Amino acid sequence: MNILILGSGGREHAFALKLSESNKVNQLFVAPGNAGTSQIAINININPTDFASVKETVLKNNIKMVVVGPEAPLVEGVHDFFLADDELKNISIIGPKKDGALLEGSKDFSKIFMEKHNIPTARYQSFTKENLLEGFIFLETLNAPYVLKADGLAAGKGVLILDSIDEAKKELEEMVSNQKFGEASSTVVIEEFLDGIELSVFVLTDGKSYKILPSAKDYKRIGEGDKGLNTGGMGAISPVPFASEEFLQKVEERVVIPTVNGLQKDGIDYRGFIFIGLMNVDGNPQVIEYNVRMGDPETEAVLPRIESDLFDLFEGVANQNLHEKSFSVTKKTATTVMLVSGGYPEAYEKGKEISGFESVEDSIVFHAGTTIKNNAVVTSGGRVMAITSFGDTIEEALEKSYESIEKISFDKMNYRKDIGFDLI
Ligand code: AMP
Ligand code: GLY
Repeated sequence: MNILILGSGGREHAFALKLSESNKVNQLFVAPGNAGTSQIAINININPTDFASVKETVLKNNIKMVVVGPEAPLVEGVHDFFLADDELKNISIIGPKKDGALLEGSKDFSKIFMEKHNIPTARYQSFTKENLLEGFIFLETLNAPYVLKADGLAAGKGVLILDSIDEAKKELEEMVSNQKFGEASSTVVIEEFLDGIELSVFVLTDGKSYKILPSAKDYKRIGEGDKGLNTGGMGAISPVPFASEEFLQKVEERVVIPTVNGLQKDGIDYRGFIFIGLMNVDGNPQVIEYNVRMGDPETEAVLPRIESDLFDLFEGVANQNLHEKSFSVTKKTATTVMLVSGGYPEAYEKGKEISGFESVEDSIVFHAGTTIKNNAVVTSGGRVMAITSFGDTIEEALEKSYESIEKISFDKMNYRKDIGFDLI
């Protein structure tokens, strides 16, 4: 079968590499892809939210399955677009339709969903500029710190955590009245602050049954010791030592099962990934957020641990017989460390030649923001490469990742040297 992967990051390179290992996959395409995916697939230079171009690519290349990496095409309805088109309706899409994608596309929707299906989450209320004063009153009922979330997609920047109530009121007004995050913040969810340790649990579902994929912890801040600005993610570790079997059992019973059943009860036919951001609060899971895709860089640590044929699992999702598919995961730990452009997540330069990555042997090099220019691999984004290694322990895996990184260089390369610091 020919498969198209939409997206261009390390996550999509990880999908491509895993799918390329399946003998049921003929030709892989990635749109737009990066220098890494071009080694194992054909890159097609189109924007994943340009559905007309996606259609043309699919028909021209006899593609029968589309795996959607990022959230934007899902929230904008790529799956619905396929179902509504006679030439495309029989092509499998791995990713939910618009109705399911609202779990990520609207924080307000996801909170209503959790409340309705009794899924543990922080107490909350939603506000718009019409009831701003009630928002101020609700803030008075909470203790610091105050959590404000733009309802819509805001490129990962829509969550503010503020220490003072005056600041929280000011920011709430900025969000709803002055559109701080554009249309995305015309509704704002205010919720209780959850104090605990964070982890991500990934689920693959065909709408009826599910597989719980390995859990992971992501390091979001740019600076060591979790300091500084938020990024897309600077590294990840899987599994997460504090996610004991007992805790994961609670996650399955209290979160995963009610989520999959809730979608079904609400008439949402969901086929794809659910990324559950959780806080472990005194041993009990509380949901922080849902995403309707895999995480990046979590995917670069999670997928390599899956021993089963990923294509086979995707076929199970498309044909709704996921429960018949075998699923196994290695016990080994995988760690990934992200190499980023100097300056990221603020302004940074692109086009820097990357050297040494071909000589890495003990790690997997996943490309993210890379492209080919004049026969050289150069940087084209803030997050450039994710270096994944296996080990019997976190320390062993990290040592390999950091040794491999020694071989790689580009001008102003930056990375965190303390990934996993809190788990060792
Ligand atoms: P989100 O964009 O929803 O992932 O939120 C960004 C980050 O804010 C999360 O990864 C958490 O670290 C933090 N966060 C969000 N909601 C809460 C909450 N209710 N309590 C504590 N931290 C939170
Ligand atoms: N690494 C966090 C995310 O993919 O949203």
